[in-house]
Order: sequence, then structure tokens, then C-alpha cells
Amino acid sequence: MTIVTRPPAACLIGWPAAHSRSPLIHHYWLRTLGIDGGYVIEAVPPDEFQDFVFRLSLRGFVGANVTRPHKERALELSKPDDRARAVGAANTLWYRDGELCSTNTDVEGFINNLDASAPGWDEAEDALVLGAGGASRAVVFGLIERGIKRVHLVNRTMTRAEAVADQFGARVQPVAWDAIDGLLRRARLLVNTTSLGMPGQPALELDVSLLPPQAVVADLVYVPLQTPLLAAAQARGLKTADGLGMLLHQAVRGFELWFGQRPEVTPELRELVEADLVTKV
Ligand code: ATR
Repeated sequence: MTIVTRPPAACLIGWPAAHSRSPLIHHYWLRTLGIDGGYVIEAVPPDEFQDFVFRLSLRGFVGANVTRPHKERALELSKPDDRARAVGAANTLWYRDGELCSTNTDVEGFINNLDASAPGWDEAEDALVLGAGGASRAVVFGLIERGIKRVHLVNRTMTRAEAVADQFGARVQPVAWDAIDGLLRRARLLVNTTSLGMPGQPALELDVSLLPPQAVVADLVYVPLQTPLLAAAQARGLKTADGLGMLLHQAVRGFELWFGQRPEVTPELRELVEADLVTKV
């Protein structure tokens, strides 16, 4: 009898299956690490998501990334870790002893990118975070886990900032948008988690000259790669961490969970994805 074993494969589940850089990233690691494996995009509409996830391993997958609009449902259908639970959304699924587990790798993507791009950033006592959606919860969770003393949270809709503060406790303080200038003067870390600055969105208008000279500025937006916020911060000589760096770092954990080796975010990988962003935006 011939036993045919297929190489392990993971997938990205989304609807619509928008152009994603994840296959490029995972194929690069599979190739450079010499692993016989695969990573494909699966377009799955919301009413088929549950069935797809229940049959994930029957379909031959060792795990998956999950993107819009399925991240909340993925959390419900799996055993989430603390990070996924805190963020309220799962973006990575894998099996442990046959059980479907989930995490949210945006937390470590954000933190590891800061460590790589702006070492020493965690000396910050006061961080200013803009936005109060899912990305903001991943950032806030990471900052608190890392021991940042105070996270000031500014959002257009104050009630959403208050909800995040209620969830994470006294270290997170919701603040009205028009109080930004005062906070910029003491923020050692500024993080944009809003969609402001993306194509088709209004610009993020902030006076970075108010930040202290040791401040670090992070923007989760990666299209465009160099956001006006990052450009202004760099022009002032401040350290920055960009959204592409976070995207690359958040992919590490999934790859490690599915294929058993921890890959590295190399300059070569960054160049590869940068080139793709430039040609296919
Ligand atoms: P994600 O999961 O990526 O964080 P989200 O939950 O839709 O996405 O959150 C988007 C964030 O960008 C929110 O903080 C949103 O502010 P509101 O809570 O007030 O909606 C913010 N945002 C989006 N467009 C904005 C705009 N034009 N001005 C200010 N904030 C904006």
C-alpha cells in the first residue's frame, strides 16, 4: 500500500479575499527555511465560515490566518488565548492535541516591531494611543503587558475609548480628541491605530513638534508605507516604527505554530513586500 502524505499547508480565510501580502511572506519563509509546505488564500463567505473552520483539518490545513470579516467568529469557534480574548478577535488558528486554538498575533507584531525598530521605547511612562477599535485593543494589551504605566487613549467616539479603558483598567485613560496637544507634550510613545492617513481617508493632523525629543512614533497604517505622520516624525529626528514592520512581525507566530520553526523578519523579506506594495496598491 502506498501512503501519500501531503506537505503541511495553512491558509488565509477572508471575504472578500482581498489582495493580501501573507502568501508572499509565508512563501518566502517556506522557501528560505527549506520547508515543504503551502499557504493559500481561501475566499469564504460569512455563512460558510463555521463549516469551513470545523473542517479545516479535513481540508488538509494545519492552521489558518483569519481576516475580515471573520475574526470575531473565529474567536467564538476556537479556544482563544489571553491575547485573542483581550482583543476580542482571533487572527491565527492552529491545532494543539487535536483542539482548535486561536491567538491574536497583532499584539506581538506590534511589540516585536517596536523592539526591532526603536529599542528602548519601553522606557516610556506615558503612551498616547489614537483609536479604539480592534487594532487599538491589541496595542493597549501589548503596552500594558510590557509594563507601560499610563496609556492615554484618544478616539473620535469617546464611548469606544471608555469601553477600552473599562476593559483594561486604571492604566488606560480615555481622553477627548481636543486634549491631544497637552498629551503630545508628555508622550514618549505615540501610536496611530486609526485608519486616518490611508488612501481615501482624511489625513491625520497632529503637531509632532510638541512631542519630547526622545519620543517614538508608531503608525499601524502601511499603505502608504511612509505615512505623513511617520515622515513628520522622522523629519524631526524621532525614532519610528511602521505598519509594514508590524505586519511582518505579526506573521512570525503563525508560521512557527504551523510549520514548527520560528522564522526571521529579514531586510530581504521587507524589500520583497515593499516592492509588492509599491506595484499592487
Ligand atoms: P480596527 O479593527 O482596524 O481597529 P475599527 O474597529 O474599525 O478598525 O477602528 C477604526 C478606528 O479608526 C476607530 O478608532 C475609529 O474611530 P471611531 O471609533 O470614532 O469610529 C478611527 N477612525 C476611522 N475613521 C476616522 C476618522 N475619519 N476620524 C477619526 N477617527 C477615525
